[in-house]
Amino acid sequence: MTTMHTHAVRPIRPEDTWSLRHRVLRPHQTLADCDYPGDHDPANFHLGVLDTARTPPAVVCIGTFHAERNPDLPGMHHYRLRGMATAPELRGQGLGALLLRDAFERLRERGADRLWCHAREGAIAFYTRLGLIGHGELFEVPGIGRHLVMSVAL
Ligand SMILES: CC(C)(COP(=O)(O)OP(=O)(O)OC[C@H]1O[C@@H](n2cnc3c(N)ncnc32)[C@H](O)[C@@H]1OP(=O)(O)O)[C@@H](O)C(=O)NCCC(=O)NCCS
Repeated sequence: MTTMHTHAVRPIRPEDTWSLRHRVLRPHQTLADCDYPGDHDPANFHLGVLDTARTPPAVVCIGTFHAERNPDLPGMHHYRLRGMATAPELRGQGLGALLLRDAFERLRERGADRLWCHAREGAIAFYTRLGLIGHGELFEVPGIGRHLVMSVAL
């Protein structure tokens, strides 16, 4: 994409995720509900795509990575992706892929062997493009909708 040079993936603080989490993922909940359990644990980290053309740089895509093993999946050193979201007006421009590919490298450097998530049904195609595969059947998360466990070996 033509504007990619103004976008950089950077570690961000938990609170830097709240605005996009609230806007995209939890519009019917409070900003306080956007502070997920485990977010402040030093084993976990948050990445943002920053639009460096704006002053101050704006967080336009987010993803959170919690050190959490899924006992149903192979490997020992798992991270769980949570709160993946791109600003609605910037979707489909490669920002989500930019963030996740950067995350794969950082996770490998941490010794992680698998990234997994509960993928919203509408995001399954996105995760498939990034190499994740689905496990089992769709399941309902009350108030949010259908999800699928997806993962990729790192
Ligand atoms: C899912 C989401 C994070 C994707 O971010 P994005 O920045 O729009 O994704 P990208 O532009 O990097 O897309 C990467 C690839 O996935 C594809 N893709 C993205 N969303 C897709 C969708 N809904 N259906 C089909 N393909 C999709 C893109 O076409 C692109 O493919 P390409 O490499 O062939 O061009 C974003 O759509 C979003 O915030 N959705 C709402 C919140 C959500 O559902 N989050 C996931 C919670 S589990």
